[in-house]
Amino acid sequence: MATFYITTPLYYVNSKPHIGHSYTQIACDTVARYLRQSGFDVFFMTGTDEHGEKIEEAAVKAGFKAGDEKRFVDTIVPQFIELWKKLGIRYDRFIRTTDAVHEATVKKVLTLLFENGKITKKIYEGWFCTPCETFWTATQAPDGICPDCRRALEKLKEENYFLKMSEYQGALVEHIRKGPLCILPEIRRNEVLSFLEKNELADLCISRPKSRLSWGIELPFDANFVTYVWFDALINYISGIGYLDDRARFDSLWPSVCHFIGKDILRHHAIYWPIMLMGLGERPPRRIFAHGWWVVGGEKMSKSKGNVVDPMAMIEKYGVEPFRYYLLRAVQFGQDGTFSEDLFVEKYNADLANDLGNLLNRTLAMVEKYVQGVIPARGEKVQDDRLKECALGIPGRMSVAFGDWDFSLALKVLWELVNAANKYIEEKAPWKLSKAGDAATLGGVMYDLVQSIGLTAVCLYPFMPATAQAIWEQLGMKTNLEDLRFRPGERGVAAWSVVPAGTKIKKGAPLFPRIEVEQSEGIQNPKSKKQNENRKHAGS
Ligand code: MSP
Repeated sequence: MATFYITTPLYYVNSKPHIGHSYTQIACDTVARYLRQSGFDVFFMTGTDEHGEKIEEAAVKAGFKAGDEKRFVDTIVPQFIELWKKLGIRYDRFIRTTDAVHEATVKKVLTLLFENGKITKKIYEGWFCTPCETFWTATQAPDGICPDCRRALEKLKEENYFLKMSEYQGALVEHIRKGPLCILPEIRRNEVLSFLEKNELADLCISRPKSRLSWGIELPFDANFVTYVWFDALINYISGIGYLDDRARFDSLWPSVCHFIGKDILRHHAIYWPIMLMGLGERPPRRIFAHGWWVVGGEKMSKSKGNVVDPMAMIEKYGVEPFRYYLLRAVQFGQDGTFSEDLFVEKYNADLANDLGNLLNRTLAMVEKYVQGVIPARGEKVQDDRLKECALGIPGRMSVAFGDWDFSLALKVLWELVNAANKYIEEKAPWKLSKAGDAATLGGVMYDLVQSIGLTAVCLYPFMPATAQAIWEQLGMKTNLEDLRFRPGERGVAAWSVVPAGTKIKKGAPLFPRIEVEQSEGIQNPKSKKQNENRKHAGS
């Protein structure tokens, strides 16, 4: 079976997670579910980045004594795990950079590179950005401002260990130009290439003197230093799959890796990381996708700027699955997006309450009323294949969108089916068919609507797994969508007739009650608490 190894960045545990972090998780979870559904063997790894100055500072701020950083991170990590659980993130491994196997792998990598002559000791003098944990040259930051976060840089002069970078610069450009390293979207690939073409790479500082920082992995060849947090963290991608002691497992997963990251950490992944791997004699990563940022008031949402939206609060208020839907539908993956609660409510009401929710409720009410709650056979007399044809085209078009990791487009395509089904109801007017006593046509129309909704549930599953399952069950299906393999035309179920004739439907509560907004109090106040409760139960 073909394999896919999917990774998220490891999140800093200096405070609780925000929407930016949830975004990568939800996207990766959707990819993983989609690939599993399509018959791939998927290994999905996420985790936390726990060493370095940022974390040490946060520990002190939280009242922990020096040397007690591990106890501090142990209080934060469960908040990430809890949020991922709430968001329905089904990962296969959660790795922490304080895990013994990770620390041992970092030491092994350092030893190998040191023994291969790829690491040297020298004095560094230049700019340093503490929040980003990054060194900058005078050319890169002529104004003493961090090019990434726009905060003031500090001057630093100290002796450190460096990884030689320029030796691999040409090879890296080749890997990006000719493969195997594929960087998406195109704009990010060009950004990396132009950076590599315009600059000779400076050696990468990979250590911190213990006199300045002790919270890190000690260098195996010099006990006066700890490892630079980025050098440490990037190694998770191989320490988590057996690089230290299970070469066969490593070899089976590494060639299929796809790193999903935010665009702010592109250089670390597309330049430092491949060169670290080349220094070890390993192949560079296969794919890197850098998504955009969620922006609030024109600025990147970030902990340090204090403009974060709390995902827990959104979930509490509106339910998990509408939140997943909104993040993936509202903005094309790769682009920046402005997060706004009023746009969220607008999208919820339009797409989920009106289009999808109504389609399901109306159809099931009609199936109960006109065909005694049992899915009829399509019969000879359906005569109108438009809805069926529209449905049959959907999975293929969604898979093209998935090929570009364009979740928004994939959902837009799926909603063409939802809307076509709603239109079909209006056109066919089943109530008229019933009045006219045309049971054969009526049965056929019910059949087509149910199949369209069944296919919608299957295709929606990667994005909104609990909603898809709830729809599936309301259609009377007893199987678990998670176990369904679906590659129309090749294997698994066919795109049409996913719900067998004879199935008894099980109509339940409406999935997405409308959010009525009290104008006087502003958009932040959905009308009734009770309504909210229903939504949370139905949609999460
Ligand atoms: N610890 C490093 C990653 C090491 S990976 C070996 C790190 N951590 S982070 O917690 O600061 O950020 C993690 C991810 O969250 C990054 O991909 C970053 O782009 C993403 N986001 C943080 N804020 C974001 C938004 N406002 N919007 C979208 N994603 C953003 O960097």
